[in-house]
Amino acid sequence: MYVCVCHAVTDKDIRKAVDRGACSLFDVQNELPVGSCCGRCEDTAQSVVDEYLSKCRRDSTPQLLVHAQPAL
Ligand code: FES
Repeated sequence: MYVCVCHAVTDKDIRKAVDRGACSLFDVQNELPVGSCCGRCEDTAQSVVDEYLSKCRRDSTPQLLVHAQPAL
């Protein structure tokens, strides 16, 4: 879906920016022009970033726990 209509930035574009290392909306905005025109998309863009970062953290938690266990 389009998050930023002014610059045709999609939720997928934002998630790709997070995959490349963006950890905040500010970081995403360093890569994409989202929010740089009318600004109406900033709340939605922030939600996409927050939800995707939360998902990434949830998905990576079991792997971290497995690696944290001592070897027998
Ligand atoms: S909708 Fe994103 S800057 Fe206007």
